[in-house]
Amino acid sequence: MDRNLLSKTAAAMLAKGKGLLAADESSGTCEKRFTSVGVESTEANRRAYRDLLFTTKGIEEFVSGVILFDETLRQSTIVGNEPFPEFLAGKGIIPGIKVDKGIHDLALSPGEKVTEGLDGLRGRLGEYFKLGARFAKWRAVITIGPGIPSHACLYANAHALARYSALCQEASIVPIVEPEVLLDGDHTIERCYEASEATLSAVFAALRAYNVSLEHTVLKASMVVSGKDCPKQAGVDRVAEETVRCLKRTVPAALPGIVFLSGGQSDEAATAHLNEMARAPGLPWPLTFSYSRALQNCALKAWRGAPGSVAAAQRAFHHRARMNGLAAQGKYRPDLEKQAA
Ligand code: 13P
Repeated sequence: MDRNLLSKTAAAMLAKGKGLLAADESSGTCEKRFTSVGVESTEANRRAYRDLLFTTKGIEEFVSGVILFDETLRQSTIVGNEPFPEFLAGKGIIPGIKVDKGIHDLALSPGEKVTEGLDGLRGRLGEYFKLGARFAKWRAVITIGPGIPSHACLYANAHALARYSALCQEASIVPIVEPEVLLDGDHTIERCYEASEATLSAVFAALRAYNVSLEHTVLKASMVVSGKDCPKQAGVDRVAEETVRCLKRTVPAALPGIVFLSGGQSDEAATAHLNEMARAPGLPWPLTFSYSRALQNCALKAWRGAPGSVAAAQRAFHHRARMNGLAAQGKYRPDLEKQAA
């Protein structure tokens, strides 16, 4: 465990005005995204699309790191055939890797999930480090519904996150701990707050129990929002207020920073929420983005697999990354959207 390297990586991930690009969609998720724009999810198409994102000029101004999927970590740029991790590192962008093996039904807990992937993880982390990965991600999923989340679900997922984090740190890889409280459902923002507070409390208790170094751990949090189908949707101010309140009550100040997932929010809502939270006074940690959909939706729609549309897709991606880079500093304004290409 190289503490200096872990500190350096964590500080660079949370650099001011920058955030993470989550480009670690599994082949299954990638297929869903590609199908929505009429593109076949082949290895070549996935490489071409990731190449488009990573080679966007100037993106390193707003993107400190990219979370990759196993396949992408082993692929290379189209021009120059340079391995993606080396290409990104050359631009000053830290390569990261999703290491969990996805969600599965949690036994005896109907409607709930647990994340798998601990078996053999020590060996995989050693290889990922050699391939250039300096941080990792593990996503746990917490569902809100009648009578859930259950204690069993919070407990099982918190322990898996803690065991994963300890293995990462042993391998000098910064763990991103991602307990995502889903926005699916018609629950109120109050229920989301309760579930989020219970989730984060369980996660940090487990991290302590497994001697995980908080100084070398990044939290990837979901925001406290109204359920997608809740008739009463909380506004930007309320989401920011409840999310910050929840984080302050559960996340130790020792953490180097917190990044957010977008979770199915619209592009502009995800940016506006981050902006409002970044403006909150007296936060003990920097806050920034680690979005997949809210950074990529626009690029994917502009691209649609057509080689002639790469430049337009890159412009759309650059704009979205710039808006979120501003939001991480509380400097975003909706009228800046009009400057989009
Ligand atoms: P979204 O921003 O699309 O929620 O994805 C972030 C992520 O990495 C989920 O694990």
